[in-house]
Amino acid sequence: MTKENENDFIVTPWEVHGKVDYNKLMERFGTEPIDEALLERIKKHTGELHYMLRRGTFFTHRDMNFILNELERGNKFHLYTGRGPSEDIHIGHLVPWVFTKWLQDKFDVKFIFQLTDDEKFLFEEKLSKEDTYSFAIENACDVIALGFDPKNTEIIIDTDNAQTFYNIALPIAKKITYSTVKASFGFDNSINIGSVFYTSIQAVPAVLESVRQGKNVPCLIPHAIDQDPHFRLARDVLPRLGYYKPASIQCSFLPALGGPEGKMSASDPTQTVYVTDDPKTVEKKINKYAFSGGQVSVAEHRKKGGDPAVDVSYQWLKILLEEDDKKLKTLEEDYRNGDLLTGELKAILIDKLNVFLENHREKREKARDRLDEFLIKD
Ligand code: TYM
Repeated sequence: MTKENENDFIVTPWEVHGKVDYNKLMERFGTEPIDEALLERIKKHTGELHYMLRRGTFFTHRDMNFILNELERGNKFHLYTGRGPSEDIHIGHLVPWVFTKWLQDKFDVKFIFQLTDDEKFLFEEKLSKEDTYSFAIENACDVIALGFDPKNTEIIIDTDNAQTFYNIALPIAKKITYSTVKASFGFDNSINIGSVFYTSIQAVPAVLESVRQGKNVPCLIPHAIDQDPHFRLARDVLPRLGYYKPASIQCSFLPALGGPEGKMSASDPTQTVYVTDDPKTVEKKINKYAFSGGQVSVAEHRKKGGDPAVDVSYQWLKILLEEDDKKLKTLEEDYRNGDLLTGELKAILIDKLNVFLENHREKREKARDRLDEFLIKD
C-alpha cells in the first residue's frame, strides 16, 4: 500500500493510519459536506433528525440531493450497505447500520445488505472460504438483530449468489483498468488478481434493483468514509453502462480504545470491543485501555477539567450509545469543568455498553432462527 504523504494520514477500505483530518479527506475524495440546507431538506421527509446527523457523525455525502429530488418526483430509492465478514463485528460497525435502520424506518424503502465472504477470503491471508462463510452467517445474525424489516430487507452472501453477481459484475469489470484499481486502492504488483477484480463485485448491489426491475432505481449507500474509493469507481463506471450513479451518506469512524484519532478495527482485540465480549471483558478493556481526556491527578482534574473531544469514553457515548442530547450535554459539561472524573465517565460507559450488548446478544441469538427470512440465494 502506498502513502500519499509519509507524515500524513491514509484511509483506504483496508487500511487507516494516522490522525484522520476529515475536512482534508472530503477534499481528497471529492465528497460534499452535509450542510444545514441538506439537514433541513432531510428533516422535511423524516420529521426529526437522527442523533448521528444532529451530531455530525454522518458528515459527508455524494448526491443526496439527487436522491431527494427523485423521491419527491415519486421515484423511491433503495438502501444498500455491507460487511466484509472476517470476524465477529465490533461496535464501530454498528454505527452505519443503526443509521441505516433509521433510514429504512423513515423512508420505508427496500434495503440490500451485502456480506462479502469472497472479499475477505481474497484479502485475508489466514482465512479459508469456510471461515469467511461462517463469519458471514454470524454477522448476518447481528444485522437481523438490529430490527430491519424482513419484508423490505435482503441479506446477500456473495458466494451464495455467484451466478447473479458474476453476470452483473462482468461488464463493470470490463470498464475498469488495472491502473485505475492500483491508483484507487494503493495496490502494488504483489496483489492477487482476485483482489483486483473484487471492486466490481461491491458495485453489484448498487444496480441489482435496477437490473431486476428493468428500470433505473436510485441507490443510497450509508457507510463510513473508508469505503468511498469503491463507490467513487462505481460512480465513474455505472453511468457508462446506463445506470444511475449510486449516492452515498458517509460517517466518520468510531475511534479505537487507545486513541481518538483513527478507526476501531477488528485486528487488535485490545483496541476493540466486539459485540460478543462479555461484561467483565468490556469492563476490563475500557478501564485498562480507553484513552482519557482527563488530567493526571484528581486534584488537577478538578481544577482544570477534562477534554471530551479526545476522551474515547465520551466519544463512544456521543457517537453510538447516548441518544439523549440533554444527558450527553450534562456529561460533556461536567467532564469539561472537572465535576466528572475519568473513572466515573468510564463507569457510565461500561454500564451503558453492557446493557446495549446484552440486549443485542439476546436478539442475535433469536436471529439465528430467522436467517431464512433474510438470506437470499441464486
Ligand atoms: P467492513 O466490514 O470493513 O465494515 C463494515 C461497515 O462498517 C464501517 N466501519 C466503521 N464505521 C464506524 N466506525 C468504525 N470504526 C468502522 N469500521 C468499519 C465500514 O465503513 C462499513 O460501512 N468491503 C466492505 C463490505 C461492503 C460494504 C458494502 C460496506 C460490501 N458492500 C457497501 C459498505 C457499503 C467491508 O469490508 O466493510
